[in-house]
Amino acid sequence: MTGTGIGRLAGKVALVTGGGSGIGQASALRFAAEGAAVAVLDLREEAAAETAALIAKQDGQAIALAADVSNAAQVEEAVTRAVTEFGRLDVLYNNAGVDSRGSVAVAEEDNWDLSFAVNAKGTFLCSRAALRHMDPAEGETASIINQGSVAGLVGVPNFAAYCAAKGAVIALTRSMAVDLAPRRVRVNVICPGTVFTPLMEPMLRARGDGDMAAGLAKTLVKYPIGRLGTPEEIANVALFLASDEASFMTGAVVTADGGMTAQ
Ligand SMILES: NC(=O)c1ccc[n+]([C@@H]2O[C@H](COP(=O)([O-])OP(=O)(O)OC[C@H]3O[C@@H](n4cnc5c(N)ncnc54)[C@H](O)[C@@H]3O)[C@@H](O)[C@H]2O)c1
Repeated sequence: MTGTGIGRLAGKVALVTGGGSGIGQASALRFAAEGAAVAVLDLREEAAAETAALIAKQDGQAIALAADVSNAAQVEEAVTRAVTEFGRLDVLYNNAGVDSRGSVAVAEEDNWDLSFAVNAKGTFLCSRAALRHMDPAEGETASIINQGSVAGLVGVPNFAAYCAAKGAVIALTRSMAVDLAPRRVRVNVICPGTVFTPLMEPMLRARGDGDMAAGLAKTLVKYPIGRLGTPEEIANVALFLASDEASFMTGAVVTADGGMTAQ
């Protein structure tokens, strides 16, 4: 057991994609604090290394992996490295994602392709690579956690490609849950509402016509809880889904959105 946790992931190995920033970094730190050895994968090598260093500082075990989740060869190599280093793989958090602004009327084809490549295809490629190594014993389960969004559940203005790609991730989660249940691999998807991270800063600024405070005020109208989420609040949900406490959960669409989709 390491850090501040109580060992909810003791003995497990987790791979977190997009682990160099925001929700992925908070989750990697939380998983490690709960006893997991963590492979931190990110497109940006230095960001993955920073998270791994933070984990080492809290006496956790981590390695940093540089890979693009939409590139099959890079994904295979990174997953193999994680398993070579830690000997097994129990948890995959498909968190890496990119946003993509614009309504269908104005959205660029490149943005559509990138949104599907990273958010949807990345989830497929990382899951496929991880499944070659996920082999839970009788009475145990492995856990794949996909990163959806409220944008996959409701129409968020001017986010067409992102909404569509996150919708695909939710549908893929259900399909994977059905296919993988006999292998004792649970697959669930988290749908966060707006969380203040580097990904969301430009969106909030754009929504306020360049004024962050105005963009935030416009956004908060949608949030009964009256504030944005924090990366740590999403990491808590991911931790639960990763742990054996969620042993009867698969195919679940778990919103963590301050009530955004409740109204
Ligand atoms: N922040 C929010 O409000 C919010 C809300 C709902 C869902 N999400 C989802 O949560 C996830 C994380 O978002 P965040 O806000 O923490 O973002 P972030 O930008 O802070 O972090 C995303 C990380 O993913 C990495 N990444 C991007 N493309 C990659 C690729 N092709 N391969 C590997 N790594 C890649 C980035 O380098 C970055 O470190 C995303 O899937 C996002 O869509 C975020």
